[in-house]
Amino acid sequence: MLVPGALLSAVLLLASSAPAALAVDFRLPTGDRASLPKTEVICNNNIHQCWFVSFTKPSEPVCGSDHFTYNGECHLCFAVLYKKLNITKLHDGPCENP
Ligand SMILES: *[C@@H]1O[C@H](CO)[C@@H](O)[C@H](O)[C@H]1NC(C)=O
Repeated sequence: MLVPGALLSAVLLLASSAPAALAVDFRLPTGDRASLPKTEVICNNNIHQCWFVSFTKPSEPVCGSDHFTYNGECHLCFAVLYKKLNITKLHDGPCENP
């Protein structure tokens, strides 16, 4: 049997957290000074924002230190945290591939 009170608070929680979940614009350390540990920390602190929107929302491409263009910070963080790649963000925008 459904408990209306619990259902209502679940709906309210969902509604109040939605705007934050839509704002995926965290900044990763960039360029020569970017380190893997710092990237991992910032990814860990922000990856929770990624799940609902990162694969559907068009995001600005970023260039990783592996010279691979990632479709945004969420994708680069996914590679760092879950594929365990030792990469950092080089710069905003796609990599200039030879
Ligand atoms: C990642 O790569 C950098 C630069 O090549 C290296 O200094 C560092 O030790 C590597 N870290 C890990 C965890 O493999």
